[in-house]
Amino acid sequence: MISRKCEQVNRKRCSECLALCTATTDCQQGTRQNACPSLFDTLVWCSLFLFMLPHLFSLCFHIKVPLCYSLQMKRDGTEFDKSVAWGVRFPFAFPVWFGPFLSILNLHHPDYIKTLLSSTEPKDDIAYRFIKPWIGDGLLVSSGQKWFNHRRLLTPGFHYKILKPYVKTMADCSRLMLDKWEGYSQTNEFFEVFGPVSLMSLDNIMRCAFSNNSNCQNEGETNTYIKAVYELSDLVNMRIRVFPYHSDLIFYLSPHGFRFRRACRVTHRHTEEVIRKRKEALMEEAKPEQTQAKRNLDFLDILLCARDEDDNALSDEVIRAEVDTFMFEGHDTTASSISFLMYSLASHPQHQEIYRERPQGDHPWIPYTTMCIKESLRLYPAVPGISRKLTKTMTFIDGRSMPEGSYIGAALYSHHRNSMIWENPKVFDPLRFLPENVSKRHPHAFLPFSAGPRNCIGQNFAMNEMKVVIAQTLRRYQLMADPARPPKVAARLVLCALNGIYIKIKPLQPGATTSLSMKMP
Ligand code: HEM
Repeated sequence: MISRKCEQVNRKRCSECLALCTATTDCQQGTRQNACPSLFDTLVWCSLFLFMLPHLFSLCFHIKVPLCYSLQMKRDGTEFDKSVAWGVRFPFAFPVWFGPFLSILNLHHPDYIKTLLSSTEPKDDIAYRFIKPWIGDGLLVSSGQKWFNHRRLLTPGFHYKILKPYVKTMADCSRLMLDKWEGYSQTNEFFEVFGPVSLMSLDNIMRCAFSNNSNCQNEGETNTYIKAVYELSDLVNMRIRVFPYHSDLIFYLSPHGFRFRRACRVTHRHTEEVIRKRKEALMEEAKPEQTQAKRNLDFLDILLCARDEDDNALSDEVIRAEVDTFMFEGHDTTASSISFLMYSLASHPQHQEIYRERPQGDHPWIPYTTMCIKESLRLYPAVPGISRKLTKTMTFIDGRSMPEGSYIGAALYSHHRNSMIWENPKVFDPLRFLPENVSKRHPHAFLPFSAGPRNCIGQNFAMNEMKVVIAQTLRRYQLMADPARPPKVAARLVLCALNGIYIKIKPLQPGATTSLSMKMP
């Protein structure tokens, strides 16, 4: 019998489903529970494969375009190498096939990507559709007038003045995590960072955006809400990869569909509770203007005080969708970015030294830290690709066009390693981001936060969080990478490492604790 319970950090493989787990490697990626394939999955796969075989053969004979199959992207840490290689062969764009009927044209040239990102074409109805039952029709997935109104409404929530006081909260959250690492600094052992960093970033977004002290760094995954958020991330990711589960019927009849619905109920109940409590608190606080005067309005306050064109308050369902969207977008992305940043610096100790040697007075180290962060985001973009479904023909700069109904994406991971844009693309070199070097590149060469009207609304929040966490970490510890265990990079909603991200730490001044006083950059 196959179990769904997978291994914990540092254990080699799941003890209860050894054979299948070694095949998926998913089981080795951290503290989260993962979805191991069941007998049901295997049957679904086999029947679908038999059904599609004739179509595949006929396609191979007739098609005249490059054949790049998602199945060629093995989940063994080399899936992105494949896409980088396709980018070299097809410098403008290459289609990737998911089964015989569905393909996404992956753009790989800054001019092409610019055309796509300047448009307001809606998100595709493949990957984003699978997240919708969880995050609803929030900012990430909505389109048209609804998206426009909500974007306008939420943008003030990311204003400099709103973000400024969050620095202290960010510092508190990262200090809590670093305190817990004190033990590792004494034992000299390698440990996995994605798990604790992820809890820290979840803690941070809950405190900053909803003023909700989750205590999740202490409770860990014993907290039912945290467990549900992790389960949903894993299940959505699994659904994207396993083509038969693209069908609602098959997915919801499967055990995974059952777990998905259950986890959705848990997260929705939790969000509704947070909203209800805040509503009650706001009612007690008389007028919203007085609230603003008393304390900083957080993201939830902005939603609750918002009025539409007819002066109606937003419905609970709309508010819940936005809250769930921010919980989803606001923690996994930063967790991935911070973990890979730590790994990048651990592998390049010379850049840690440059950071520490900078005079600390006026914080001139911030630009250097920013360059390190950007270089890490270039090599390890948390969102490795984005996609849209065209509602009308799209014509690119050279006159070539794609018809309405096509799926088009920007392959950000391979774009950031495109040797036509980046010299020695695999080398970690923060100096690429010196202003004089940036000015020589295409403005759409570096796109970790996307660009255009649907760029990341939380990018300043994320950059601040990364700066605070890395500043705290480097002041306290020296980071060292494990040369025997480089991360096997893969997409799991966000960029992750199949085998975890391992570093070890050495205290800079034994016993010293950090007290960070930091000006905003
Ligand atoms: C390093 C961390 C982050 C990265 C790399 C990142 C990246 C991205 C990217 C590439 C997109 C465009 C997605 C698409 O077009 O499909 C996006 C959109 C979005 N991000 Fe982020 N993000 C990060 C952190 C955050 C944070 C912290 C928040 C919230 C606090 C956030 C909220 C959003 C939202 C709401 C959208 C949708 C915006 C819209 O469509 O109008 N992100 N992000």
